[in-house]
Amino acid sequence: MRLRLLSQANRLRLLQRQRWLATTSSTNLAQQQQQGERNESRGKRDYNGLVYGAATLAGIGAGFLLFNELDKPRSSNNIITTSTATVAPPALDEEATARLWHTTKRNDLPVYSVDEVSKHNTAETGIWITYGLGVYDVSEFAPNHPGGDKIMMAAGSAIDPFWAIFQQHNTLEVLQLLEGFRIGNLPQLEAAPVELEHDSPWSQEPKRHALLKPTSERPFNAEPPIAMLSEKFLTPNEYFYVRNHLPVPTLQPEDYELELEVEAGEGQKELKLSFAEIKALPKHSVTAAIMCGGNRRSEMTKVKPVKGLSWGAGAVGNAKWSGARLCDVLRQLGVQPHEQLHVIFEGADLDPTSHPYGASIPLSKALDPRGDVLLAYEMNDQPLSRDHGFPIRVIVPGTVGARNVKWLTRIIVADHESDSHWQQNDYKGFSPSTDWDTVDFSKSLAIQSMPVTSAICSPMPEEHVKVDGDGFITARGYAWSGGGRRIVRVDLTSDGGKTWHVAELEQEDLPDGRHYGWSLWTARLPISAEQRQTQSVELWAKAVDSAYNVQPEAFEHIWNLRGVLANAYHKVKVKLV
Ligand code: MTE
Repeated sequence: MRLRLLSQANRLRLLQRQRWLATTSSTNLAQQQQQGERNESRGKRDYNGLVYGAATLAGIGAGFLLFNELDKPRSSNNIITTSTATVAPPALDEEATARLWHTTKRNDLPVYSVDEVSKHNTAETGIWITYGLGVYDVSEFAPNHPGGDKIMMAAGSAIDPFWAIFQQHNTLEVLQLLEGFRIGNLPQLEAAPVELEHDSPWSQEPKRHALLKPTSERPFNAEPPIAMLSEKFLTPNEYFYVRNHLPVPTLQPEDYELELEVEAGEGQKELKLSFAEIKALPKHSVTAAIMCGGNRRSEMTKVKPVKGLSWGAGAVGNAKWSGARLCDVLRQLGVQPHEQLHVIFEGADLDPTSHPYGASIPLSKALDPRGDVLLAYEMNDQPLSRDHGFPIRVIVPGTVGARNVKWLTRIIVADHESDSHWQQNDYKGFSPSTDWDTVDFSKSLAIQSMPVTSAICSPMPEEHVKVDGDGFITARGYAWSGGGRRIVRVDLTSDGGKTWHVAELEQEDLPDGRHYGWSLWTARLPISAEQRQTQSVELWAKAVDSAYNVQPEAFEHIWNLRGVLANAYHKVKVKLV
């Protein structure tokens, strides 16, 4: 039955190919024959069944003829423009040839806009992706085949950034398969940016990386596919999650001014610092994970709906932040330790009533040299991007993302917390029994230090995973705890908690209490004969921090109406092949 369905699908595709072959004018017969022979021997290999074999052959044929159709000039960004001229191909090897297909416009296929492609991102609409100039319909392939899961991460958008990371998928076989699924071309990779309404507060929004999957466009909020997160200890800036509540302000470093006010306690009452003056202060770096209070909210929502953006487990990233230490600046002002005082931060982003985004932290954290609070101007040795707070943001290591105020313009030492909506009426936890009729935000503590959490980044939910020769699969992920607490262990189970396996940790060797970066982990997990038979397994992860805090088992008992602090065991069901 499976074979019959697959062959029907491929017959269609092959028909499409044949039609295309018939209309192609520039075929080099000798090379085609040669290529055909190569294809034949390739076809004998195991490509995971008929769909692989048929599509591969179709892809090779298409790719070869396609190559003959090209003209060769290539622009600096590696895009080949189209021509109908017949040019003998240079002696490129098979793989090098295949690597050119996606950068080439196919004259026999229609042109689709990025917008049109983006509408095809589910099983219902069909799954389209782009790679270079190519548009591909992978509806039949992606959901059911090993490697297809990686393609699914790009559903409706470009696969290029994924393949820049997951290099192992960029093989001749996969390129051939992909070309077999080609249905069109993008207009031009460097297509002019969409014109935005001039007067809109959104007209100055920065351009974002295709890897960031928005949970909302305006304001822009987005997370990367979590499989990317466990790939690198320091999350690359371009796909570090973005959490904006308002339009992104445009600040020029030459006009930038940070106002400091000491409203309560001792110290000089006012100070203004230019960007240059902040940069002239001693530079300090800290590795810190920033995590949104709503990270993993989408899992908590399954228990009962909550209000808030539906974040997966990717609203977190780990970076090296550099800047001036806030404690140095406060000391310069003569601010003295005081347990009852707070430090309020304001951003340059304004709500419709002209109130800035704001948040506060206890003065004790701000003044503590081990607190490592920074007026940061660099992220992973690069100037901050606009989305991440250019030119200056505050980094409050170990503390919920909301207090890490971006586009920082004002700091106030006060005898009260920030009166902003985000400090007073958001980012607070509640009992599972509190509902919107009974909630009283004034009675709940604003979240500062975050609880211990972890997530399985790879395999992703429903991913097809190959069991290795020893009967194991490998899982990777992140773990982190707030307050500088070091992760001491990550436990995984593949049998519902009957047996646990301790993961290997990748982490910085820093003193506890100052362990602000995350830990990446890897674990090999045994697969039972029964699981192999049913071809499915559920993996669970839980992390333990240096205070022996451990993640709660289930979301039911930590559910809260805002969907924050969602740190129950991370459970991922995967398919085995
Ligand atoms: N600062 C300003 N000025 N405006 C904001 O909307 N969002 C906060 C915080 N700082 C926000 C802000 C929240 S809720 C989070 S989780 C982090 O920024 C996200 O930082 P990132 O976008 O650099 O990842």
